[in-house]
Amino acid sequence: MCGIVGYVGYREAVPILMNGIKRLEYRGYDSAGIALLTEGGLMVAKSAGKIERLEERIAGVDCRCTHGIAHTRWATHGEPSQLNAHPHTDADQTMALVHNGIIENYRALREYLLRQGYDVRTDTDTEMLVHLIRLNYRGDLTEAVRNALNSVEGTYGIAVVSVEHPDTLVAARMGSPLVVGYGDGENYVASDVSAILEHTNRVVYLEDGEIATVTASGAEITNMENIRIDHPVEEIGWTLDQIEKEGYDHFMLKEIHEQPATLPNAFRGRLNYEEGIPRLNGLNLQYDELRRIRRIIITACGTSWHAALIGEYMIEELARVSVEVEYASEFRYRSPVIDDNTTLFALSQSGETADTLAAMREAQKRGATALGLVNVVGSTIARESDGGVHIHAGPEIGVASTKAFTSHVMVLALIATLLGRMRHLSVQQGREIIDAIQKIPDKVRTILQMEQQIKAIASEYYQMNNFLYLGRGINFPVALEGALKLKEISYIHAEGYPAAEMKHGPIALIDQNMPVVVIALKDPVYDKVMSNIAEVRARHGRIIAIATEGDTEIADRVNHVLYIPKTNRLLTPLLSVIPLQLLAYHIAVMRGCHVDQPRNLAKSVTVE
Ligand code: G6P
Repeated sequence: MCGIVGYVGYREAVPILMNGIKRLEYRGYDSAGIALLTEGGLMVAKSAGKIERLEERIAGVDCRCTHGIAHTRWATHGEPSQLNAHPHTDADQTMALVHNGIIENYRALREYLLRQGYDVRTDTDTEMLVHLIRLNYRGDLTEAVRNALNSVEGTYGIAVVSVEHPDTLVAARMGSPLVVGYGDGENYVASDVSAILEHTNRVVYLEDGEIATVTASGAEITNMENIRIDHPVEEIGWTLDQIEKEGYDHFMLKEIHEQPATLPNAFRGRLNYEEGIPRLNGLNLQYDELRRIRRIIITACGTSWHAALIGEYMIEELARVSVEVEYASEFRYRSPVIDDNTTLFALSQSGETADTLAAMREAQKRGATALGLVNVVGSTIARESDGGVHIHAGPEIGVASTKAFTSHVMVLALIATLLGRMRHLSVQQGREIIDAIQKIPDKVRTILQMEQQIKAIASEYYQMNNFLYLGRGINFPVALEGALKLKEISYIHAEGYPAAEMKHGPIALIDQNMPVVVIALKDPVYDKVMSNIAEVRARHGRIIAIATEGDTEIADRVNHVLYIPKTNRLLTPLLSVIPLQLLAYHIAVMRGCHVDQPRNLAKSVTVE
């Protein structure tokens, strides 16, 4: 995700700021920028691509500045480019601002600012913030920030400098981390403590709704009501490596635990509860065009292909539109039947997977509308598609995909509901789904609390050589994904199967050395899955069940039960996959595997 560093003190600011943003590189970014307060005014330099390009741009600048802000941007609104990179400035170049997060009401703010005569120059949501602060400025920078933020909806961590206040840095937080670092005659602001740890380990973490006014001699923290807040200064005892992983042993584990926060990013600002309808403007399709869609093809690879399969169940059930899910590598080499009534979704975390990109281009050539469902803004699929939806999961560093999977499933739920509302779903039905969607993050949080229980199960099975994963209906793709996670990172052979298909082959393999993971939720196929469980037991198979909370019946029919909270049946994959991610992770760790970079695998497969 984006990174922020700010400095005010007595030393040369450029190396402090540049080293600070370099420390944040691991979080992923696509452009970088810096704003310095010089005697002649504000100096801003920005560049697309790596920080080295920004360094080249400012090489030789000897401004003797002791005050500034810097940023690494991971694009959410507007492609990665020099123009869209932060810092953003007001029209007169008196203020500069960097921002992490997403401004939900930026379209309304943009209209408002245009009406006020402001010239909006970039595609970003962030630019609105600097104009709003300028609009509210009456001589007190902190007050201007506070007043401006009162009309902002969404998440932000911001840092602002102004030529009128050459000794001050103002920072504010809502949902996007910010820390104030305390030095001696110098102070810092950062989105992540790793950016400033080489200078100080004395910090205060801002809470949501707090604003810090930072000078070289100290920091005053106030809330949105301008009441002063006194936080005790904390001493950080972690190493840099621990901090990058936020204390987790691996990026994969950190990303699994991020899901209660990444899932809301997929639906934030996209739900209209009143009308029971999701709003996905990026699709670039009007309601009548959405109604005309007769056939959908979703193409993807790997974990993304599993998310696509879940989308097939959701869209067919809620919208009654026929959906086909195709491995991109297969789709592109056969002679697919495509016409201009076909809508193709290219689903990809990276937006760069060679086969998915080629499949999308092939479909476009044959007349299909191609929509991208991607995580990385500005990626090739995002650029070349005719529209799409960003899943906003933030950079995913662990090779085995976790949070991007659930964010993709979440976006597919929004698409299915939207297409459903365009057809036969009532406002009430739309609202019920929206309500269930909003409750998912808390339910994921509850499941994550079962980690110790999952770890204990892992310790019992980590030496096995084979695993079978079974699921039915919309949880069949979750069985595939659970098996893939285990294979990828623990190198244990694992297969996912539709539970009923077990009788047509895999049942021959079952004995006490072949653990079977069964997703057995209280849904219309529950009784059928229970029969499958009985078949496994009769062959001495050991069973780990993912079950619905309150289902006591299952407990004495299986060896282990992991309960997940109830939700709308079509959303259950968002919950049932979480214990499977954790199970794979802990088994891999116990086997001593390299979890974040498994052998032979790549995060982004850009070759065929
Ligand atoms: C690789 C990765 C997988 C990913 C797949 C598709 O195999 O290791 O985690 O699911 O590519 O990648 P994409 O970026 O298109 O989702």
